[in-house]
Amino acid sequence: MELNILTLCYIIASVTFILGLKMLSNPLTARKGNLIAAAGMTIAIFGTIFLYEDDGHKLGNYLWIFCGLAIGTVAGTLAAKKVKMTAMPEMVSLFNGMGGACAALISAAEFYHIYKLHIDAPDTPFADLATAGHYITIVAGAIIGTISYTGSVIAWGKLNGRVKDFSFKGQHIVNMIVMVLVIVSAVVAYRSTIGASYIPFIMIGFFALIYGVLFVLPIGGADMPVVISLLNSFTGVAAACGGFLYDNKVMLTGGILVGAAGTLLTILMCKAMNRSLLNVLVGSFGGNAAAASTGATQQGAYKEISLSDTAMVMSYAHKVMIVPGYGLAVAQAQHVCHDLEKILEEKGVEVRYAIHPVAGRMPGHMNVLLAEADVSYEKLMEMEIANDEFKTTDVVLILGANDVVNPAAKNDPASPIYGMPILEVEQAKTVIVNKRSMKPGYAGIENALFFQPKTSMLFGDAKKVLQNLVAEIKNV
Ligand code: TAP
Repeated sequence: MELNILTLCYIIASVTFILGLKMLSNPLTARKGNLIAAAGMTIAIFGTIFLYEDDGHKLGNYLWIFCGLAIGTVAGTLAAKKVKMTAMPEMVSLFNGMGGACAALISAAEFYHIYKLHIDAPDTPFADLATAGHYITIVAGAIIGTISYTGSVIAWGKLNGRVKDFSFKGQHIVNMIVMVLVIVSAVVAYRSTIGASYIPFIMIGFFALIYGVLFVLPIGGADMPVVISLLNSFTGVAAACGGFLYDNKVMLTGGILVGAAGTLLTILMCKAMNRSLLNVLVGSFGGNAAAASTGATQQGAYKEISLSDTAMVMSYAHKVMIVPGYGLAVAQAQHVCHDLEKILEEKGVEVRYAIHPVAGRMPGHMNVLLAEADVSYEKLMEMEIANDEFKTTDVVLILGANDVVNPAAKNDPASPIYGMPILEVEQAKTVIVNKRSMKPGYAGIENALFFQPKTSMLFGDAKKVLQNLVAEIKNV
């Protein structure tokens, strides 16, 4: 009877995961989707704690379990409340690493379970105690989970600047050798007697830890969002292995969903940057290589525009398109940006936002940012539609965006971003760019747009500039 209720809990949880994931794909339903999936996870956790039975034995260990739950809940809640929007990828990375470590520990616990059950006969070959399928699931969970753990911790360190990019000649060969050592240890553990198997099993974990570090260390810090998404899919697969081991359907469903979503997201990010996953993993985008590449030199003179002139040009425009980018998020200028939109609309100006799929540093970054400031979802235009609209736009105001409006992506085959679809802002009558300096963006390259005759630079922190601009427009 209880088992049936537990199965029902798992089915409900699995349905909420799928529903939640579906709702996450739309900014209007994303928050609700997250809550629904979290509610499902709560049902699955408490169902397992109170209803799970093995040979008539309940889980027990309630003190340990609830201490762990309490610590995790407090730490998770505080971290989520404290984190800045721009530091979100860091937090996702760290939490993903914890997920990978959990999946690896589940595999280690299952190995220890077999070891402990049969240690009275230490000369029994391990292969006689576990089928190849069972063993591969244990080892796959341990390897993938461990790589995801150390890889995510390094990615977290790179995003917050604690870990610097590091590579050396022959790094990829060393990585391959370490991976071979992981696999050899796994084979040796399976072929050993149960009494001797734990040493090579520990070696699997040891080499996998090293592999995770070496795998992420040489990848350019700027490419971390893609790496995190990839590691996220690894964690999903490792968790699914845990689901197989314990015949736990909800863990299996959750793991597969995370694995599939992470893989799709990785592919979509690479596609939006027009780069292959291999190029992300072995290239050094945004690092020295990119800076040294074409376009990294000054392209002539640029002209500046004053606040009062900007206020004038925008107030008398029919149609204004705002292009938000990473700088807007850094400046936390989304609310004052919404104020600008409202005041322009009061003056009869049509205002829209052009959203590039990889503007910012995480998928949907600009959508989330603008939704936070209550910008109507209908005002956001996807790249393809925005590109049609620029022809009839009087003023494009670029707020802390750089790479996503860089024409080198279209006309410089030697550029590291060549082929990446961009917002074709130069089709508009006037382009005003707000940023603090002439420094490059994420890709580390110069932007020819800033030197075009129809472009004017409006220097300063996005929030301050927008506050002053709103004040100026009120006086026009
Ligand atoms: P970026 O090319 O990174 O440019 C951001 C610009 O914002 C910088 O040039 C910077 O110039 C300016 N800025 C910084 N702080 C500012 C502030 N307080 N006020 C005003 N401006 C400020 O950003 P983007 O155009 O949004 O492009 C995103 C990049 O990230 C793309 O290359 C994309 O491929 C990459 N990427 C995105 C994702 C996702 S999923 N979104 C994932 C991986 C990689 P100053 O320093 O001169 O102010």
